[in-house]
Amino acid sequence: MENRIFNFSAGPAVLPEEVLLEAKENLYALPGVGMSILEISHRSKTYDEIHATAKKKFKSLLGISEDYEVLFLQGGASLQFSMVPLNLMPPINKADYIVTGTWSKKAVKEAKRVGAVNIAASTETENFVRIPKQEEIKLDPEAAYVHFTSNNTIYGTEWFNEPEVGKVPLICDASSDILSRKIDVNKYALIYAGAQKNMGPSGVTVVVIRKDMLERSQDSLHTMLNYKTHAENDSLYNTINVFGIYIFGLVCKWLENLGGLDAMQKLNQEKAQLIYDCIDNSNGYFRGHALPDSRSLMNLTFRLPSEDLEKKLIAEATKAGFDGLKGHRSVGGLRASIYNAFPKKGVEALVDFMKDFQSKNS
Ligand SMILES: Cc1ncc(COP(=O)(O)O)c(C=O)c1O
Repeated sequence: MENRIFNFSAGPAVLPEEVLLEAKENLYALPGVGMSILEISHRSKTYDEIHATAKKKFKSLLGISEDYEVLFLQGGASLQFSMVPLNLMPPINKADYIVTGTWSKKAVKEAKRVGAVNIAASTETENFVRIPKQEEIKLDPEAAYVHFTSNNTIYGTEWFNEPEVGKVPLICDASSDILSRKIDVNKYALIYAGAQKNMGPSGVTVVVIRKDMLERSQDSLHTMLNYKTHAENDSLYNTINVFGIYIFGLVCKWLENLGGLDAMQKLNQEKAQLIYDCIDNSNGYFRGHALPDSRSLMNLTFRLPSEDLEKKLIAEATKAGFDGLKGHRSVGGLRASIYNAFPKKGVEALVDFMKDFQSKNS
C-alpha cells in the first residue's frame, strides 16, 4: 500500500484510515448489493439505511434531542451564511454577529443583504488573536438571533464556552470544530458545519436546527433555500450527496468506536498540548498567533523569527512528509490543522521536527 504522509491541511482534511479502507472496499461493490456506493439511488432501501444510521449515530454522539432536526444539505457552510438570515432574520430583520475572523466576516456580508447587522463584538483590530470576553459583547435583546463562529480556522482561535445570550436564539458556524468535543446542544437554536474537516468529504453541510425555529421560514422563500423543505423531506427533497453521507456515517461509527466525544476531546487536548508546549518552550523562537486562553485545539497558528525561516521550515517539512503547514496569508507563518482524524504520532513527529529545525537554525 502507498505510504500516507502527514496531512495538516485545513480542509478538506485528513480522514480516519479505517474509514478510507472500508470505503475503498465498498467503492467497487457494497456487500450484498452488487453496486458501488457511487451508483446507488438516493431513494433505494440501501441508501435509506445508510442515511438513517448516519443521522442516528451523529445525534447520539452529540446528544441531540427530539427537539432538533438534523439536515444534510449542500452548498457548504458558505450557503448557510445566506440561509440563516433568509430563514431566521424576518420579521425582526436585525441580528447580532460576533466577529472573530474571516469566516464570521463572510457571514456578516450575507446577513447584511437581508437585514440590519449589529456587530456585537469584534477582535479585528487585534488581528483576531483572541475570542472576546463576555463583558465586551454588546447584545441587542431584541435581535432575531446571535451568530458566532466556534473555531476560527484561519487565525487558530476557539470558543470553549458559548457566549451568554439570554433568550435570544444562538447560532453557530461550527465548521472546524464540530464533533471535536462535547457541547450542550440545548444552548443552540442552530448549528451548521461543512463536513470536510471533522466529518467527511466536502459537499455535505450538516445543519442542526431546533424545531421551533422552522416556523420562522416563510413560504415566499425559494424552495431549496427553505429549511422547512429539507426538514419535511428528511433532506431528500433533491438528490443528496450519497457518497458524502456514506463517509459521514463511517466517520461517526469511527468516533463511536473510539469512545465518543469525551475520548475524542481528551485526545485532541493531548495532541494540541504537544505543539503548544513546543512553542512555549522554544524561548520565543516559535511564536503562537493566538493568545493562550483562545488557542484552538484544531488549527494551531505560529510564526518563526523571520519569513525566510518560515519558508525554509515549510520546504524542509514538505520534503520530510508533512503537508499543508503553510499558514493562511492573513496570518502568515505556519498552521498545523490537527483535526480529529489527525494521528497523534504525526503530531509527535512534527514536534521532533520543529525542535530539530530550531537547534539547526538559531
Ligand atoms: C469556520 C468556517 N466557516 C465556513 C467555511 C466555509 O466553508 P465551505 O467551504 O464549506 O463553504 C470554512 C471553510 O474553511 C470555515 O473554516
